[in-house]
Amino acid sequence: MSFFISIEGFDGTGKSTQASILKKNLDDLKIDSILVREPGSTSFSEKIREILKDNTEIETLTELLLFQASRFELVKKVIIPNLEMGKVVITDRFSDSSVAYQGYGGGLDIKLIETLNNISTSSLKPDLTFLLDLNLESSMKRTFSRNNDEQIDKFEKKDSIFHKKVKDGFLEILKNNNDRIIKIDASKDINEISYLILKLSLEKINETV
Ligand code: TYD
Repeated sequence: MSFFISIEGFDGTGKSTQASILKKNLDDLKIDSILVREPGSTSFSEKIREILKDNTEIETLTELLLFQASRFELVKKVIIPNLEMGKVVITDRFSDSSVAYQGYGGGLDIKLIETLNNISTSSLKPDLTFLLDLNLESSMKRTFSRNNDEQIDKFEKKDSIFHKKVKDGFLEILKNNNDRIIKIDASKDINEISYLILKLSLEKINETV
């Protein structure tokens, strides 16, 4: 029953929480799954995550290439093998994040990013993507209230125009991929969102078996 789900969205929309709840819900239903995150989830990719965190002043293209290197390792070493074993793979962010952040936000050519995405993913696309959408004010508030210095740094270093471009970019990606991406209103109650994500995932999984 191999199936590939990505959870995307702007920082502070609750995607990591929802990705973990979905994993737990699938466990409870005895559906074999793994949860990974981008950048990360291989020892090399976690090192790239650290490098990206510690070097906020690098060029956008450098950033993009690091995200792509991390993605290539993750897809080759973890995502494809687990899909081949028939598992459901859930990823907290995937290639849409590069288009939204480095493309719409950072101003790099979208076609270039799509080409690199195709290389780093071996043209693998999620079967289903949840885009958690929340207004900018609420998502920033949630991020700050986590009281996490790393997050606050990240937000302070980028201006509000960047944040708006990324958020609008995700909505543009949704428009161009509405066969695969489902927008979720992230202002709803956490349990309501997780129930909806589980229900929609099971429907799609069952459609493909
Ligand atoms: P995230 O896992 O959401 O960070 P955290 O758990 O600390 O909230 O993602 C890390 C950051 O990397 C986030 O700001 C989005 C960014 N990012 C990109 O800019 N491009 C990408 O391709 C990916 C995968 C992430």
